[in-house]
This record gives sequence, structure tokens and C-alpha cells, in this order.
Amino acid sequence: MNMPLHGSNPHSLYKTLNIDLPRQICDFSANINPFGPPPALKEKWNEMFTKIIDYPDPEGAQLVSLLAAQDDLAENSILLGNGGAELIALIGRWLAGKRILIIEPSFCEYETACRASGCTIIHHFLEEGNWDLHVEHVLHKLNWADAVFICNPNNPTGQSFSRTAIQGIVEESFKMNTFVIIDEAFYHFLEDEASFVSFVKDFPNLLILRSLTKIYSIPGLRLGYLIADHELIRKVSLFQPHWSVNSVALAAGVECLNSGPFLTDSRKYIEAERRRLFHFYKESGYRFSDSCVNFYLLQDPFLNDQLSLLKFLLEQGIAARHTYNFKGLHGRWLRLAVKRTGDNDRLMEVLKEWRQVQSSL
Ligand SMILES: Cc1ncc(COP(=O)(O)O)c(C=O)c1O
Repeated sequence: MNMPLHGSNPHSLYKTLNIDLPRQICDFSANINPFGPPPALKEKWNEMFTKIIDYPDPEGAQLVSLLAAQDDLAENSILLGNGGAELIALIGRWLAGKRILIIEPSFCEYETACRASGCTIIHHFLEEGNWDLHVEHVLHKLNWADAVFICNPNNPTGQSFSRTAIQGIVEESFKMNTFVIIDEAFYHFLEDEASFVSFVKDFPNLLILRSLTKIYSIPGLRLGYLIADHELIRKVSLFQPHWSVNSVALAAGVECLNSGPFLTDSRKYIEAERRRLFHFYKESGYRFSDSCVNFYLLQDPFLNDQLSLLKFLLEQGIAARHTYNFKGLHGRWLRLAVKRTGDNDRLMEVLKEWRQVQSSL
């Protein structure tokens, strides 16, 4: 089975599984903000259009300056990218031929990018169900590796690792000359905004990756940034094509950062919906990951492979993300986004139906 590599574009999932397209599809497979983009983007869309007749500012100075102020960083410690995905590809090229450790299950692009440039990859698998990270479990692998990728909060579980564990990994890696890449693509969804950005000043081996496409719901525009010591930023940027981030994305980024209560409103809404969903899952005997963001893993514990549930959901117009290409999960879970109230209601209704169908067999 040639399952799609990522969420979003649910039509390809229907096609692969040979399921007729229903009249309406609700896409729970993409983990972006259910609020949609900040309203200012639509209001200023015509103004942004005028920007396409010029080449973009290759440095994205205005946006960089806002980002630097937000996290109290030097501007030369930030590199903008055409989505976090571009920055992962650049890091992969910068790390060409090196030994890479990836904490799994996690985002598959780290491995893809590093393999493309001849890296050797090893994995550390977190214990399924709690997915806790312990420094002592990875020490010998850190010593072997030239760089380690950690996604925090982690995709696909939505869980944050303990601060002690990540801090320990950054400190131990520093002593071992190992680079640490912390992917904080979903950090903006956290209520407490726990980040490791302040560590960058003391740890020149640390790179932090952020995406603006998730929280501001602009995956079609593409925008992300990398934070690290300025010398590392310079080295990684050597691999980036000039004008990589287009002028509409740059202008949209500025609008997003100035979008007032949009972030806090989104977080509050998502948290309330997540609580409601998790309450339902507990009551109805589904297993789920202890997510603190806008997506989570779900499992019907009566199934090993969740394929039949995935198909049932698709038939009812609900697209979930399969987990066959999340290392260590082997399709034993589905990943679902937290969406708007009506969509989440529909999901719970369909999951109730699934229980009824199963008990009648
Ligand atoms: C963990 C993680 N990092 C980075 C990315 C890439 O994000 P972007 O859309 O900014 O390229 C994704 C996209 O799904 C992701 O899940």
C-alpha cells in the first residue's frame, strides 16, 4: 500500500484505499489551527498582492526584527525559511555525511533530509503509550551521534517532553560536541509557551526550528524560522537559495505576528475542545496520547492495526492521519487534529457508531 507520506490532501488517502469520495470530507489529518488564518490576512490581501511585482527582501528584515524582539534574540541568530520543511532540508545538507540520532516516533522529514545527503541514521524509540524521554536512555547514542533531532511538542503524539530531559540532552550533547536540533513547530500551541530558545545563547550546539504555518494556518504560503548561534545560522544559510521566502509570505508573517489576541484565543479554544474530546475518549474506551497541543494519537484498543477504523472514518467523511510511516507506530494509532466544535462533535458521533458496529459483530 502506497499511503500518503503526510496529512492534508485527503483525496490521495481515498484514492490509495480505493474508497469512494463522500459528498463532504472533514480533514482531521492536517494539524493546523482550526481557526484558519488571522482575519487581517484576508483584509490586507489586495495590498499584499502588490508585493509580487518586486523580488522579496532576501533577509526578510522586517519579519526577522519582529521575531527577534519577540524572543529577545539577536537578529543574526534567526534564519527565515520557506516553511520549517525547507529549514529541515537545509540542516540535512549542512549535516551531510554525519551520524544522526532521531528520537522516534517523530516527523519523517528529518530522516528523509539527512539520508538525501548521505548521513547515517539511528533511532531511539520512546516507550509506546507514555512516550517519555529519559537522558540516561540516550547517552550512549548521543555520544555516537554528530547531531540529534528532537521534536517538542512531538509530532505525532502532541506531548511535550520534560524540561529536565531536554535540558539534560542539550547539556550532555554540548560536552560531546553533538548538535541538538529541537523542532518547536507546534510550540505556539502550548498554553505555557515552554521553549528552549533562551538556551541558544549558552549552547552553540543548539538549533531551534519553528513553523508559522501551523499556528497561523498558512501551510499554502509556507513560513518558518531557525534560531541558533549566528555562526551556525551563517553556515546553514549557505545552502539556502536566494529569495527563498516569497514577498507575500513575508508580509503575511508580519501581519500574523501583529494579530493581537489571535494566538491566545486559538489556544484557549483548542484546549477546551481537546478536553472535551479526551473526556469522550475516556468514557468510551479509546486510548489517546496525553497531548498538550492541537493533535493527538488515538487508538481503538480492540484493534492492533487501526486500518479498519481509518477506513470506517473515511467512509463517513472523516480523514484521519495513518501512522504507518511514523517509526515505531506501525499503524497501531491514528493521528487526529483538534478541529472546530461542530467537526469534533461529528467525529465523536462517528466513533460512537464505530463502537456500535463493532459490538454488533
Ligand atoms: C514537526 C514538524 N516540523 C516541521 C514541519 C514543517 O512545517 P512547515 O509547514 O512550516 O514546513 C512539520 C509539518 O508538518 C512538522 O510536523
